[in-house]
Amino acid sequence: SKDELPSTDIITLTRHVLAQQFQLGAQATGDLTMLLTAIQTTSKFIATNVRKARLINLVGLAGDTNVQGEEQKKLDVLSNDIMVNSLRASGKTAVLVSEELEDAIIIEDRYKGKYCVVFDPLDGSSNIDAGVNIGTIFGIYQITPDSTGTISDVLRPGSEMVAAGYTMYGSSANLVLSTGHGVDGYTLDAALGEFILTHPDIKIPPRGKIYSFNEGNSMYFHKPVINYLNSIKYPTNGKSPYSARYIGSMVADVHRTLLYGGIFGYPDDKKSKSGKLRLLYEAFPMAFLTEQAGGVATTGRGRILDIQPTSIHERCPVFLGSRDDVNDVIKFYEEDS
Ligand code: AHG
Ligand code: MN
Ligand code: MN
Ligand code: MN
Repeated sequence: SKDELPSTDIITLTRHVLAQQFQLGAQATGDLTMLLTAIQTTSKFIATNVRKARLINLVGLAGDTNVQGEEQKKLDVLSNDIMVNSLRASGKTAVLVSEELEDAIIIEDRYKGKYCVVFDPLDGSSNIDAGVNIGTIFGIYQITPDSTGTISDVLRPGSEMVAAGYTMYGSSANLVLSTGHGVDGYTLDAALGEFILTHPDIKIPPRGKIYSFNEGNSMYFHKPVINYLNSIKYPTNGKSPYSARYIGSMVADVHRTLLYGGIFGYPDDKKSKSGKLRLLYEAFPMAFLTEQAGGVATTGRGRILDIQPTSIHERCPVFLGSRDDVNDVIKFYEEDS
């Protein structure tokens, strides 16, 4: 109403995570909260650079190629450096894995903590120069009790992550996070420099009306994917066809899918034997968030979070989103086998 005063009781990300940690009682040491504070800082820092990129010559190529054979953009490299510096300095990490670094970083003893962070520092590189939404994706493991932090602490199924999230740099910066107790969305209040809880307890609608695939790859798609896409584009029994939305930044496509429902897919095909998206720092965190929001995340043939990784940059096929939509794809795979 017009008499309503602005709230003086804002819920910041730190406050909300601390409240969740308090509920866990004695187990919580505050270390995860501290680590998340470092991650929030990196997101704010990257967000300001994204906003200024066009003005300070931060668009375009950096000149190098990453281990995936992709040409690195200046913002890929800058975002990676921001995250490595901040995560190391937090004193809470033991192992870091980044899309932009061939090898995992094992943190030296004087900074070593008990968490491992796998991250895609800048997701949606191809969209940077056009000013389209991009993001950062991260997943967090805790080192196993008798480990000092080795590569095997991150070569674990996504179901063992203790937290996962992403920040989307769009019309506002939105951080979406799960510590295993549902999914919450926060919006950066740039004046305060705080992420404020704006989307508590996100739940994906059980069925949506949107599909999100790069159909430019159709000539390479396998049968189940082609048949599934035909079923939603040419529905029988009087139903309406689905709408297409594909941004080409996983963060933005998944963000829309979490909020509106529907399905996002990046399948394996005749050209890309394991698809394109990277298991550790793209598929796992997004699958974790999807399941925590009540959705389903599959390769078509199995649950993504159950995959046992064998190398840090491996890829995997991805279908995720509304429960009923993703289960429909799974049916086409079952019929195929
Ligand atoms: P990145 O920019 O981190 O390398 O990730 C790009 C990924 C992902 O964001 C997106 O879903 C996908 O690539 C888009 O691929 P296509 O251009 O092949 O559709
Ligand atoms: Mn890349
Ligand atoms: Mn990416
Ligand atoms: Mn990236």
